[in-house]
Amino acid sequence: MSGSLKFYFTKARKLSSHSSVLLRDFKFFLSSLDISATIIALEDDLLLSAKEQQKIEDFFEGYLQGIPLDYILKESSFFNHTFFVDSRVLIPRPETELMVEAVLKLPLRSAGAIVLEVGVGSGCISISLALSRPSWKLIASDISSEALEVAQINLKKFKVFNLQLIHSNWLSFAKPDSIELIVSNPPYIHPDDDHLKGLIHEPISALVTPNGIDSFKEIAKQAMLALKVGGRIIFEHGHKQKDQVMAVLREEGFRNITADQDLQGLNRFVLGEK
Ligand SMILES: C[S@@+](CC[C@H](N)C(=O)[O-])C[C@H]1O[C@@H](n2cnc3c(N)ncnc32)[C@H](O)[C@@H]1O
Repeated sequence: MSGSLKFYFTKARKLSSHSSVLLRDFKFFLSSLDISATIIALEDDLLLSAKEQQKIEDFFEGYLQGIPLDYILKESSFFNHTFFVDSRVLIPRPETELMVEAVLKLPLRSAGAIVLEVGVGSGCISISLALSRPSWKLIASDISSEALEVAQINLKKFKVFNLQLIHSNWLSFAKPDSIELIVSNPPYIHPDDDHLKGLIHEPISALVTPNGIDSFKEIAKQAMLALKVGGRIIFEHGHKQKDQVMAVLREEGFRNITADQDLQGLNRFVLGEK
């Protein structure tokens, strides 16, 4: 029957020739509409409301245009939290959760330590840190007002009070010798990188930087001024950029520079100390 769940399952099966994971994602999408897991599993002949039918039609349309599922759902799971996302920000990535874990293991010296994230995007890193460490004072910047709007939505969603958002070019607002820790997953893709060709729904300015390395240089230079002596910086970077990023930190005068890998064993993080 048109308008029933069964009808849409038939449609999903027909469309599955376009994408092998469409059916799986369709089921996931249905669960976001609060349709029970049993009804979905049985592909029950449930009659859907006009609103639900419209949402499902929108799902198919977006999916066939190649819009990533998280943008269609307007949510993304990160560090056990569900963040609001849309195409104003990048979808948080699982590798980045490891950076949050690494930061949480760092011994910060004072309870009221100021921690700064540069390039906050959806807010996934800073909000996860703020929720795990209520005694930290976090500041997070982005040059994109659109990204800051999304971060603000998440700030409200999670009722976070120890995080301040700032519209800024990197950390140009920061006072000298004031910050204990700087965290950043900056844009690190070279403008000529082939991977960019397939990306039409993501904000390109969140991904690309001149020469693939300029953002690290700019942040490291400003960080050297803003950090307290003994303060640390941690970067997430592309898996072939470890040596370049370590060299950038060395050139700016950082010491105790170390690197770490993601769960696939790929080089992904670099740390340094002022
Ligand atoms: C790779 S995204 C990271 C977003 C988020 N922190 C995450 O890990 O999912 C990089 C972020 O840096 C921001 N950005 C780019 N250029 C910037 C600049 N000059 N100053 C501050 N932020 C910048 C982008 O708008 C984007 O939100």
